[in-house]
Amino acid sequence: MITAVYPGSFDPATYGHLDIIRRASSSFDRIVVGVLHNSAKSPLFSVEERVNILQKATKDMPNVIIKPFEGLSVNFARENDAKVIVRGLRAVTDFEYELQMAQTNKVLAPEIETIFLTTSLEYAYVSSTIMKEVAKFNGDLVNFAPQEIIDELKSKLCIGNR
Ligand code: PNS
Repeated sequence: MITAVYPGSFDPATYGHLDIIRRASSSFDRIVVGVLHNSAKSPLFSVEERVNILQKATKDMPNVIIKPFEGLSVNFARENDAKVIVRGLRAVTDFEYELQMAQTNKVLAPEIETIFLTTSLEYAYVSSTIMKEVAKFNGDLVNFAPQEIIDELKSKLCIGNR
């Protein structure tokens, strides 16, 4: 049984994240999505809210589990008996940061491999940050995330539904 972890901030999850989770879930026996609780950052959604959002959005994926975590991703991987860390790669702009992270994780935990899934073309522009920016200025969010996540985002930002 091969378990992979997919760590991230997911503030909130987008179609890009859900695409990576779905594709990873067909390549590994079990995917444990790790939602980072980082006390140094102030995300829009609490870690509990981000976990709940992801649990609802992945309810049709039986081999996907959502868990909060603190600290190092490699420790989260070890705690979950995962030998693989999955990350999504969008454009070349992601690459430098992702490479450095993967190399750091390799030094910290040589037994764990980082595997990159390239983001599907239709979601290449999607990020939580851009989605929140579009939401703040009342832009159309239909291409960024499923309706239930859009509703959570609008309610968090006190934007009426339209
Ligand atoms: O969704 P994000 O914000 O791009 O995810 C980044 C994340 C959570 C994967 C990264 O910040 C992380 O792994 N944080 C945990 C701390 C850690 O393991 N740091 C060492 C690798 S640089």
